[in-house]
Amino acid sequence: MSNFIHTPVMTEEVLAALNPQPRGCYADGTIGGGGHAFGILKFSTPEGQLYGCDRDIEAVEAARCRLAEFEGRFEIRHGNFSEMPDWVGSGTCDGVLLDLGMSSPQIDQAERGFSFQLDGPLDMRMDQRQPMTAANLVNEASAEELALIFWEFGGERESRRLARGIIRERERSSITRTKQLADLIERMMPRRGQKTHPATRVFQALRIAINDELGLLSVGLAAVWKLIKPGGRLVVITFHSLEDRIVKDFGRKLARDYRIEGNVDVPELRQPATPESKWVYRKAVQPGTVEITENPRARSAQMRVMEKI
Ligand SMILES: C[S@@+](CC[C@H](N)C(=O)[O-])C[C@H]1O[C@@H](n2cnc3c(N)ncnc32)[C@H](O)[C@@H]1O
Repeated sequence: MSNFIHTPVMTEEVLAALNPQPRGCYADGTIGGGGHAFGILKFSTPEGQLYGCDRDIEAVEAARCRLAEFEGRFEIRHGNFSEMPDWVGSGTCDGVLLDLGMSSPQIDQAERGFSFQLDGPLDMRMDQRQPMTAANLVNEASAEELALIFWEFGGERESRRLARGIIRERERSSITRTKQLADLIERMMPRRGQKTHPATRVFQALRIAINDELGLLSVGLAAVWKLIKPGGRLVVITFHSLEDRIVKDFGRKLARDYRIEGNVDVPELRQPATPESKWVYRKAVQPGTVEITENPRARSAQMRVMEKI
């Protein structure tokens, strides 16, 4: 029995969007604890197939354990969803799911180093084979690099001041623990009655940078799109606006009935083209109030669904 426990978000909505069929073939690029995958395999009984992966080896092991009763109907590998076309055939899937962000055990285990509320090594790697940790970044990057990360990935308005404070602190001693960094930020930016911890945005920014979350999402969307058959669906759940914007832009480009040369869209220079995709729902789908009450981590989730034409 695994102690990797993650409550999947919007399971009903995900299953309604994927509509698993008894002979369907599905891919879950962020398998986590296997909660959504369990639903997909259950509803595609008796012959539905599932390919899954996760960057986190603990998630891979937990998902294999969770899905044991469907043995023979799934294949799960340790890796990035951007690499799925290396081992899943192109045009073979009826549906692909990406449920981005972190799983609960990553946040709740102090030794993974993602949480400013628990003291642990300043790590934050989803894939622990990767050499660069958050401590490496915080102790080695220049003030300009840190400020840019805090601003671009965390929207932190005090990014430059915090980056300068970190440089001063690390000249005295290396910053190696989550609590050391969280306390330093709190000393530089006292709470003044705010509910949110002042280190929230910096921790989010470091996590996105260390795991190259946005870069891999752009590449990964194009990669998993190749796996889908015509009529098949891509379901993506995001947890912050930077991710959602990338998904929205990706879907919009595929749904256009024209193409453009380069990156600038000048209406006079548009060339007619056949759209590759259509939106299944006009807007992002959000969890209901009951789900948010039962699982507050679902509160920022947004689901977008595209169908391949
Ligand atoms: C929100 S959890 C997924 C939970 C899962 N849907 C479930 O039902 O348990 C997100 C997972 O995505 C993984 N992940 C994030 N980015 C990834 C990537 N680029 N490739 C593979 N896995 C990724 C994380 O390690 C984490 O386990």
